[in-house]
This record gives sequence, C-alpha cells and structure tokens, in this order.
Amino acid sequence: MTSKKQNKQSVDLSLRQFIKDLGGIAGGTALLASTPWLQSFTVDKLSELKKEKARLAVIGTGSRGQYHIHNMLDIEHLEIVALCDNYIPNLKDASVLCPKAKTYTDYKKLLESSEIDGVVIATPLNWHAPMVLDALDAGKHVFCEKAMALTMDECKAIYEAYQQTDRVLYFGLQQLFDEKYIKGIQMIHSGLLGDIVGMRCHWFRNHDWRRPVPSPELERKINWRLYWESSGGLMTELGSHQLEICNWAMGQRVPVSVSGMGDIVYWKDGREVYDSVNLVYRYANGVKINYESLISNKFNGMENQILGNRGTAELAQGLYYLEDDDASPAIQQLIAEIRDKVFSAIPAAGPSWRSETKGKYKPYAIVKNTAGVHSGASMIGADADGSDLILSSFAQACITGEKAKNIVEEAYVATILCLLGNQAMAEQKTIYFPEEYRIPYMKF
Ligand SMILES: NC(=O)c1ccc[n+]([C@@H]2O[C@H](COP(=O)([O-])OP(=O)(O)OC[C@H]3O[C@@H](n4cnc5c(N)ncnc54)[C@H](O)[C@@H]3O)[C@@H](O)[C@H]2O)c1
Repeated sequence: MTSKKQNKQSVDLSLRQFIKDLGGIAGGTALLASTPWLQSFTVDKLSELKKEKARLAVIGTGSRGQYHIHNMLDIEHLEIVALCDNYIPNLKDASVLCPKAKTYTDYKKLLESSEIDGVVIATPLNWHAPMVLDALDAGKHVFCEKAMALTMDECKAIYEAYQQTDRVLYFGLQQLFDEKYIKGIQMIHSGLLGDIVGMRCHWFRNHDWRRPVPSPELERKINWRLYWESSGGLMTELGSHQLEICNWAMGQRVPVSVSGMGDIVYWKDGREVYDSVNLVYRYANGVKINYESLISNKFNGMENQILGNRGTAELAQGLYYLEDDDASPAIQQLIAEIRDKVFSAIPAAGPSWRSETKGKYKPYAIVKNTAGVHSGASMIGADADGSDLILSSFAQACITGEKAKNIVEEAYVATILCLLGNQAMAEQKTIYFPEEYRIPYMKF
C-alpha cells in the first residue's frame, strides 16, 4: 500500500519535472513549434485538473495492453473502469491488475457504457480501424496503439472521421513524449546539424517474433504479427516509429517515393511477413531515408540517425556529434587514436573498412543521464521512453476535451509510408506517393 502511494507521487513528480525541464531548455515558442502536441500539456493546464479523473477502458489486454495498465495505475488523473479482450487468459491477467474494472469480451458492448470517457486500444493492427471508428462513433475519446491501421483506405477513413469529431484521438507514438527525442528534434530544427542531408534508420533483433500457442487453431490469433491479414510486418511494427521520427525531423516534409526489397531470409516457419527489409525513401529535394530491419541478427541494434552537413544525431541513443568539433578535448582524441591503433592491429579489422574520421567524433548527450537507454531489444519495458507520459497526456485531454495538435497527422503519415513501403517491396517497383492519400498537413 505504502509503496503504491510512493510510486504515484514519484510519477506525478516526474511528470511535473518533465514539463519543467522542457520549459527550461525550450523557451516556449521554439519548443512548441517543434512539438505542437505539448501545447495542451503545460503545468497550468495540469493543475487545472484538480481532482478530476478520466474514466478509461482498455481494449486488448495482451502484452502492450497490460504494459499500459501498469503505467495507468500510476497516473492520478485517470481510473481504469473497464477491460475487454476476447482471449480469456489475457482478460483474466488484466483483471488481476485492476479487479474493480468491469470485464467484457465484446468491445461493442463496452462502447455502450455511459460510464466510460475514453478507450485505450491495444489490439492487433487489423482491429485498429474498426475499433477506432466505432469508439469515436460511440462518443468516446480514443488512444490507439500504432500503427494507425492495416490499409491506406482505413487510415484515410480514420483521418476523415477525426476531421468530423470533437473527440480526442491519440496514437501510441511514445517518442512524441520522450524527452530525448523532443530535445533532439528541437536542436535539429534550430540548425545544430546544419541542413539535413540524409537519414539512416535501422532496427535489428535476433528473435523469431513467435509466441507459444496453446492449441493450433489459435496460431493466427496469437501470432497475428506474422500474417498479412492482421499485420504489416516489420514496417508497421517497428518502422512506423522510425519513419515518424524522420518526418518529425524534416518538419512535416514527406518523401515522394519509395523502393525496397523484402524477404524471408531466415525464419522460414510458415510466416508470411518479411524478416528482412531494406528500403529507400526519397524526398523531393533528394534527401533519402535508408531503412533497414532484420530479425535474425542483432549486432547493429536500433538507431535513428539524422545526418546534417554540420553534424549527426543518434536519437535513440540520445547522442549527437559535430562534423568540426574544435571543443573536443585532447584526451578524447588520444582515446580515439588508441582505439584506431587497436583496430589497425587486428588484420580482419584493418584500415580498408575503417572509417577515416569516425574515431575523432565526440559524442554529446542530448539529455543528461539518459544517453544510450534504448537497447533496441523491445519498446516494451524501455526506460523513460514516453509511454507513460503520452497516456498521462491522453487522460488529461479526456478531461479537458482539448485535442492534441498533429498526433493524428504524424501517425497518418508514418503509417501510410510503412504501407507504401510494403507495396514497393511486394510489387518490386518504385511507388510514388499517391494523390488520394495526400492530406493538407503534408509538404512534399
Ligand atoms: N508503441 C509501442 O511501442 C508498441 C509496442 C508493442 C506493441 N504495440 C502495439 O500494440 C498492439 C498490441 O500488441 P501486443 O504485442 O500487445 O499484442 P498481443 O497479441 O499481446 O495483444 C493483443 C490483444 O488483443 C486481443 N484481441 C484481439 N482481437 C480482439 C477483439 N476483436 N476484441 C478484443 N480483444 C481482441 C488479443 O486477444 C490479445 O489479448 C499492436 O498494435 C502493436 O503494434 C505498440
């Protein structure tokens, strides 16, 4: 009991600290220009909430749903009043975490309840569109996990429904509330790296993505990630976060075309989605995103590199490097030289592949004490990655009714790009951004 209370206090404090820290670095206007969704998330607005609580339901109480429940239990301005899952073991597990919540197996029944202000949807991708649209239709505020939806038409339908509704809609792009991304992107927008000349994002893991199945007829339900009917594979599961970061860095500018290759290289176990993807997204000005993901080798981990003519940011690690860094202390250079000598002494790692200047780059942390927190293993359980803060912000928005600027648009752009990437790989040709999926938010 005591530890629960202490926990609540510490979360509340970290939320306030987060806002305070951002105010400190930002000087309001510049920050809000880079992250407009934080406008509804100021200290004053938070204190206006007083003792009000958003009454929320969680639909889909599997892995991510239960992770959200753990975070939600620590947020004072919300209560979990209902749970829904059509797989009883997962519903029961969630019920243990919040025993007072009503349980449902049919989400449509849950949506009929007048005791629910908003829903948190954490179901497989094929369920996002029907559930988001039905929930908005039922007058609920909605937080739905990324990616937005399984098809481009479904994304468009959600975007259009959002134009018509006065309800709040969020998508689970937690990096939008992750301090190192917020500060890193603001630094990029303020010109620290010069002009953006390229981007390189990758996500490598060594894991089959399979889950144990208690009986064969549950294969497609439990391993939904592996089949096209319910998943967009690596692109929607992993790439959606990273493409959103690229678009955010580029300030709403969107690539005009994509080409790529996707294959099942290693996990030939009956799955349909690729376990290896390489894509190039090209902007009208020639800047390119190189995107690569592989789940049978984790040597390279995960990173989102933004390359400028004056420097480079590695946003997942929370680091940046400058091309001409006069401030680099002598000791730093000495270490780099020693490291170079060690590499040169190993025949297989000789100078033929060694980058000429990389050893001299000095890493700077974007946010003190958080550099390198993301191991790349999984978003679930990542430390201080914004997942709790985005839910806190959503609960606040459910109380105030204030829509969060740009979140839906960012999710829309990132998801369409993932789906266009999948199309380019399937058809083995360059795909140009189709007119019918362009929205006014996009700059080309
Ligand atoms: N933002 C992130 O970093 C992040 C991380 C992990 C997962 N996710 C997303 O969260 C979502 C869920 O992923 P997961 O790993 O928790 O999957 P999961 O399979 O563990 O959980 C999904 C749950 O939804 C339930 N479900 C399926 N259809 C349903 C229906 N019609 N009605 C009610 N319940 C239904 C399943 O029974 C299951 O319990 C996916 O969209 C995924 O992309 C996001």
